[in-house]
Amino acid sequence: QYSLLSMSDLSDDDIFSILHDAKLFDNSMKDWQLPMHNALVANLFFENSTRTHFSFESAQLQLGCKVADFDAKASSVQKGESLYDTVKTFEMIGYKCVVIRHPKDEYFKELEGINIPIVNAGDGKGNHPSQCLLDLLTFYNEFGTLRGLKIVICGDISHSRVASSDKEALERLGSTVVFAGPKEWERPGYPTMDFDQAIEWADVVMMLRIQKERGASLASMTNEEYLKQYGLTKERYSRMQKHAIVCHPAPVNRGIEIDTDLVEAPKSRIFLQMHNGMLVRKAIMKRAFGYAPFKENL
Ligand code: CP
Repeated sequence: QYSLLSMSDLSDDDIFSILHDAKLFDNSMKDWQLPMHNALVANLFFENSTRTHFSFESAQLQLGCKVADFDAKASSVQKGESLYDTVKTFEMIGYKCVVIRHPKDEYFKELEGINIPIVNAGDGKGNHPSQCLLDLLTFYNEFGTLRGLKIVICGDISHSRVASSDKEALERLGSTVVFAGPKEWERPGYPTMDFDQAIEWADVVMMLRIQKERGASLASMTNEEYLKQYGLTKERYSRMQKHAIVCHPAPVNRGIEIDTDLVEAPKSRIFLQMHNGMLVRKAIMKRAFGYAPFKENL
């Protein structure tokens, strides 16, 4: 089985193989399909999603899979069925892989008896490996390396699975990652830097939204005050290094963590990240089905 639950499932070589496959999917392997045609895959999203859900679906359809969309609200989960029994049902009725997003941290620990690959599309504030891989691809394409990169991630760190997966992988691959934002949202073991200092230091400025669905709030602050104190304003953008880029996993809350005019500013790679997300998800699905990395050069 080639499940992908967290970045720790991947060796450094695995990570670079996925990035390489993703790059080929943008070039010579655009039309490559799984030799196992019409493989049934199910996308089980127990939490809202636009990008992850539909870029997995786009990737799967391009690879020749048949895709089942699962609506948790219309499923037997509403009658009290467990996550394990739900996933086991998909296995027993012929599905060959499941992609799961769930609000519970490490929900996959309940799924140890499942015998088809599981791809984690986000667990609570735990892990978001496909987002991490698309971030790595975006940085690698921009800078030609991940070693020695300086990255600041700013905002609601305490509730962010992007922060945790990116920290784990980027530090392992030789980048320096620091965190900024309100003190309330710092996370033990996550090194901090004042955002106004970090903005001039970083190669990558990654902004995060406030995860209100996980209880985050700064009740005493207006959106305008938050943007001024912790957000990416035009003034901060003007102090970034010439070569530096802006990223955001999205969805973006325009005018809160980032000035709306900066979402598509020249340094922004926010929409490019979404395209890269589809590419890495093709590579993740190919791996999940047991196909070895492409040998072709770029
Ligand atoms: N970045 C991300 O996970 O976006 P969605 O919640 O829309 O999937």
